[in-house]
Amino acid sequence: LSCTLDRETVAIALGSINVSVSACVPPPSLPRLLIVYPWTQRFFDNFGNLSSPTAIIGNPKVRAHGKKVLTSFGEAIKNLDNLKATYAKLSELHCEKLHVDPENFRLLGDILIIVLASHFGKDFTPACQSAWQKMVRVVAHALAHEYH
Ligand code: HEM
Repeated sequence: LSCTLDRETVAIALGSINVSVSACVPPPSLPRLLIVYPWTQRFFDNFGNLSSPTAIIGNPKVRAHGKKVLTSFGEAIKNLDNLKATYAKLSELHCEKLHVDPENFRLLGDILIIVLASHFGKDFTPACQSAWQKMVRVVAHALAHEYH
C-alpha cells in the first residue's frame, strides 16, 4: 500500500471501502471521533444507538454519514486550489443550521491522521504525515470560512 494523497487513501481513512474487518483494523474516522470525543455525539442524536464503542462502530447511520464526509473530502482533493468556494455551502450548513463548532473540524482531521497512521504503519512517513496535516488543516479552515 502506498500512502499518497489520493482518493483511495482518503477512503481507507474514512472507512468506506472494504478494509478487512479484523480486530486489528482501526475503526474509521467518524466513529472514532464519536468515541474519543463523546461530546460530538450530541450532533448525531437522531442517529440511534451510540451507547458504546461497539454500537457506534456498528451503527449504519454513522457509517453512511462517514461516507458522505468521505465523498466531500474527495471533492477537496479534486479542488485543492479552490477549497473555499467548494466548501462555502457546507460551511454555511455546519455554521448556521448545525451549529458545529469549527474546533470539531480540527479534531476530525487529527483523528483521520491517526487512522491513517495506524492503517499504514511505517509507510506513513513523516513526509506523508506532513502532506496530510496540511490537507486536513486547509479543509478545516475552508469549512470554518463562512462562520461569522
Ligand atoms: C452533514 C461534510 C465535519 C456534523 C454533513 C454533510 C457533509 C458533511 C457533506 C451532508 C450535507 C448534506 O446532506 O447536504 C463534512 C466534512 C467535515 C465535516 C467534509 C470535515 C472534514 C463535521 C463534524 C461534525 C459534523 C466535525 C460534528 C462533530 C454534521 C452533522 C450533519 C453533517 C450533524 C447533518 C447530519 C444529518 O443529520 O444527516 N457534513 N462534515 N460534520 N455534518 Fe459534517
